[in-house]
Formats: sequence, structure tokens, C-alpha cells
Amino acid sequence: MVENAKKICPILAEGQNPCEEIIAPRCGIVIFGASGDLSFKKIIPSLYELYRKELSDGLYILGCSRTKYSDEEFREHTRVAIREYAEYETEKADTFLRSLYYIAGDYADQQFFRKIKLRAEELDKQYGVNRNRVFYMSVPPSLYETVASNLGEMNMVDDGSVKLVIEKPFGSDLQSARNLDQAIHKYFAESQIYRIDHYLGKDTVQNILIFRFANSIFEPVWNRNYIDHVQITIAEELGVESRGGYYDKSGALRDMFQNHMLQILALVAMEPPTSFASEHIRDEKAKLLRAIRPFDLDNLDDQLVRGQYAAGQVQGKKVKGYIEEEKVSKNSKTETYVAAKLFIDNWRWANVPFYMRTGKRLRGKDTEVAVTFRQIPHSMFKVSGLEMSGNVLVMQIQPEEGISLSFQAKRPGAKMCISTLWMDFKYKNVFQAEMPEAYQRLLLDCMTGDQTLFNRQDSVELAWQLLDPVLEKWQQSSDGPYIYPVGSESFPQADRLIEKDGRCWRKINED
Ligand code: BG6
Repeated sequence: MVENAKKICPILAEGQNPCEEIIAPRCGIVIFGASGDLSFKKIIPSLYELYRKELSDGLYILGCSRTKYSDEEFREHTRVAIREYAEYETEKADTFLRSLYYIAGDYADQQFFRKIKLRAEELDKQYGVNRNRVFYMSVPPSLYETVASNLGEMNMVDDGSVKLVIEKPFGSDLQSARNLDQAIHKYFAESQIYRIDHYLGKDTVQNILIFRFANSIFEPVWNRNYIDHVQITIAEELGVESRGGYYDKSGALRDMFQNHMLQILALVAMEPPTSFASEHIRDEKAKLLRAIRPFDLDNLDDQLVRGQYAAGQVQGKKVKGYIEEEKVSKNSKTETYVAAKLFIDNWRWANVPFYMRTGKRLRGKDTEVAVTFRQIPHSMFKVSGLEMSGNVLVMQIQPEEGISLSFQAKRPGAKMCISTLWMDFKYKNVFQAEMPEAYQRLLLDCMTGDQTLFNRQDSVELAWQLLDPVLEKWQQSSDGPYIYPVGSESFPQADRLIEKDGRCWRKINED
């Protein structure tokens, strides 16, 4: 319906640009696990993009890994990666690649870290970096502690401007998250620790805050008096791909729910922070997570169900089931799908259900937050005999990023016919630009020292506190997950969770 955003949004008029670019100061990035998938697919292409867009004042990258590469080999692998995962501009790519260096070694060997220290000191001088160093742990979680303590023992962290980036999962339950935190805090202050949840780097996820707190019309109705229920969906079309080894020990609850899903929930439901300052936002998120009602373990199926994909056909092609995936145990009970109903026990949200689901190998890729408002209290339009549905506000996180609001309208003609229509805003139509990769924003924030979009330890622990009892219950149970065929929209037990409340899941990619 929005044909020309400039008409309704004067701030987008030509020549007006209310945004200031953030430019990162000179920085040295040391990547552990530099020869791995995440490094080549996300981290380095994102750093290249920051360089290409001139959002960095200058940087060098020191790749560290077990794989033996020379500087040249590392650069050539990186060239291939940025051709595939970034916007390749030959001249920029050439100069960027010249700032890449590499050291191979064993993480348990202090000699490896000694070499890294010396090399980083030389590079700091060469690139004019004033101790603004980022250590990025893109290694398996079992190595987090080893890397952090070796950095500590080598006296590489004694300066507040040194940052440590940690990929999720941060622990695999409450106790392990606490142990890891203690081990890291032995050397790093909380202000130096950047726990990544890449969903928080997505523009559309950040926009939840702008939408709620930079508009005056939504917040007054953002509560139990006007909202019937909320649905949060992260549906994936892909399966576990090459990550079976990691995933089989993790599952959807740990891999997606503990972090991405609960973080989105926190942004949707938290109270307005006093300011956009990092600690104010993170305080409100933690308060919200603390208010989630614990699951009733005796009636778990009414609140949380798990599923696992089984082999089937998608568009005429045979697709493997989860247990046939590489490095997955043949009798694995790991869940690839979780659906849950949560309540937030506070004044704003009393008795408003939040239905949340995430799964792999579903009918399509779709991440969205859908807020359904209450039905009108009394209908004077008895015409169609149909119940008029409540307005729905959909924040489409990906892939068709945008925001839509449904409303009822009269159809043209003499008859009194009412239809549900949608007001649609699509990022790509209005801004005519690709959405930036989440890692670009997160790396930029890290280089500038802004922790707003990173998880604080209390949020990590609150999320585990909520989920630990469920994980224990599953562990003790002889039952496994329900089975759903690849390409499914849903399955009966997940449907039951919402349908018994007289509601239904939105369709994947429903408009
Ligand atoms: C990761 C999970 O954190 O997020 C993956 O480990 C998942 O299992 C991925 O596929 C989804 O991210 P995105 O950005 O593709 O929605």
C-alpha cells in the first residue's frame, strides 16, 4: 500500500540524512579459528565491508588457527571468500588483503600465544594501532577458556581497550555458563567481554526498539489491555548442514531459543529504558527475562514441545532426515524444532501468551514477530456473520524485511462487505539498499567499544535458568521429540499448543 515512502515520511526526502556514520578507530583484529567457516563466511567478509565502506580508520587482521597457512595462502582463501560473501571491488580487495597476516599453532601451547603477542605488537606499530585490539574467539566453545587464559597469562589483556568477542553458545547450561564466566573474568573485565548474539546485529531486530520507542502511537497500546497474544517465529528452510557434530549436542533449545528467541522476546516486551545507553537497555532486558514464568514441568506438553525432522520430499527432491545427517547419532533425540508458550509475570503483560517457535527444515525461511491485538469489544457490523479478527502488526525480521499492519476496510460497492487489508512497509522498496550483514554492525560496535548489542552475563544466566529444568527433564525422559517431515509447516503437537487456546499459528511466510 505504501507506494512512495517519501510522501508519508518527510525525513526520507532527498538530501536529508539524519544519520551520522560511526567510524571505528584504528584497530587490530586477532581471530582465533581464522581458517574456519564462520571466519571466512561472516567475520572477514564483514570486516572487508567495513573497510570498503570506509567505516574503519584502518585495521589489520591477524588470523590464528591450527591449519597451516602462510600469510599468502590465508589471503588467497580470503579473496575467494570475499568474492562470494561480500561486494568484491578489486582495488579495495587488494589493499584489504595486504593487511591480513596469519600464524598457525596449537591453542594449548603458550609458545603459540607468545608468537601472537610479538606479531601483534609489531603490527600495532606498523598500523598505528594504539592498543585497540579485538580478540575474536571463533573456535569451538571447549577452547574458550584455554584461549582466554593464555591471553591473560601472556599479559595481553591488561589494558581496558582490549576486547574479547565470544561466539554463542555461552555455556550449555547455567552451571557451565557460570564456570566459563568465572574463568574469563579472571583476566577480562565485564566491559571487555562482547558476547555475540548475531540476531541483535540485524537492522530489523534493532528496529523493534525504534518502532516501539520512537513512535508515540504504539507504546500506549503495547500491553495486556490491547494485545491478545504475540507470536515469535524463526523458521528455517535449511537443515543442520555441515554442523551436525555441534548441533547434535546442542539442539534447537540451546542453539536458537536460549539466545536469539529470548533476546527478540526481551526487545518486544521490555519496559522503555531511560536512554539508549548500553546499560539501560541491558538492564531492561534482564528485568524482562527475570519476569518470564518458569515452565510447569508436570504439564510440559501444554507449554513446550520439541520436534525432529524426518526424511521426505521437498519440491520433488529427496531430503535427508536429521538422523541421517553427517556426524549425527543414528538414534539421536536432539530436537530440531521447539514451540513454546510463555507468560511474562508483570503488570504490562499479565496473562498475555507469547507463542514462540523455531525449527529447521520447515516449509520456508521466515523470521517474524506478530502482535495480534484484541478484537473489537462489540461489533455493529453483523453483515457477514464472520467474526472480525483483531488487527495484526507483523515485524518481518527476514527475509522480506518490513512491517505490516492489518486493518478492516469496506469493500467498494453497495453491499456492506468488510475485508482485512494490509499496510505494508518493505525496507527494500523504501531504502533501496541491501540489509547489511549483522556481523558488520557488531564488529563495528566492538571496534568502537559499544556493548549495547551484546549480551550481558545476567541475561545469559537468566535464559539458562529458565531452560535448565526443561533440559534436565528431557534428559531424564525416555520419550524423544515428535517427528515432522522435512518441508513441514508444523505438526499436530505443536499446533495443539496454540489451538487449545482457540488461536492458530500464522502460516510461514504469511502476508
Ligand atoms: C545460528 C544458529 O546462531 O543462527 C544456526 O547456530 C542458525 O543453527 C542460525 O541456522 C540462523 O541465523 P540466520 O541469521 O540465518 O537466521
